[in-house]
Amino acid sequence: MQDPTNSNCGQCHGLVHTDNDTPVVVGQGGWQTATTGEIFSPQRLNETGLNLQNKDSLSRAWDVHAERVVDCVDCHASLNNRFITRASRTMP
Ligand code: HEC
Ligand code: HEC
Repeated sequence: MQDPTNSNCGQCHGLVHTDNDTPVVVGQGGWQTATTGEIFSPQRLNETGLNLQNKDSLSRAWDVHAERVVDCVDCHASLNNRFITRASRTMP
C-alpha cells in the first residue's frame, strides 16, 4: 500500500512531469493539458521544450509546489484516509 503518485493523478488530470533533465513538451494524449493548460512540473519555464514568449526571462517554475516536492495527495487526500482528519483538511 502506498499513496498514489503525481503521475497516477496525471493520467487523467493533465501533464505531470517530474524529470528535470528532460524539457517539458506537450505530446499526443495530453488532451487535458491541451484544453486547460494544466502542467504540473518543477522545471523552470526557461528550460522547457515549449515555445513561450520571452522564454529566456522566465525563471520561475511551472508549479511552485512541484518545485518544493509537494505532491497532489499532500493537498488532495482521500476522504477516508484515517491519518488526515477532516478537521485539519478542508480542501477538496
Ligand atoms: C481515472 C481518471 C482519474 C484519475 C486517475 C484521477 N482523477 Fe481526479 N477526477 C477525475 C474526474 C473524471 C473528475 C471529475 C469528477 C466530477 O466532475 O464529478 C475528477 C475530479 C477531481 C477533483 C475535483 C473534485 C471536486 O470536488 O471538484 C480533484 C481535486 C481530483 N480529481 C484530484 C485527483 C487526484 C489528487 C488524483 C490522484 C490521487 C486524481 N484526481 C486521479 C478523474 C481522475
Ligand atoms: C498546494 C496544494 C495543492 C497541490 C500540491 C495540488 N493541488 Fe489541486 N487544488 C488545490 C486547491 C486549493 C484547489 C482548489 C482551487 C480552486 O478552487 O480554485 C485545487 C483544485 C484542483 C482540482 C479541481 C480544479 C478544477 O479545475 O476544477 C483538481 C482536478 C486538482 N486540484 C488536481 C490536482 C492534481 C492532479 C495535483 C497534482 C498533479 C494537484 N491538484 C496538486 C491544491 C493543491
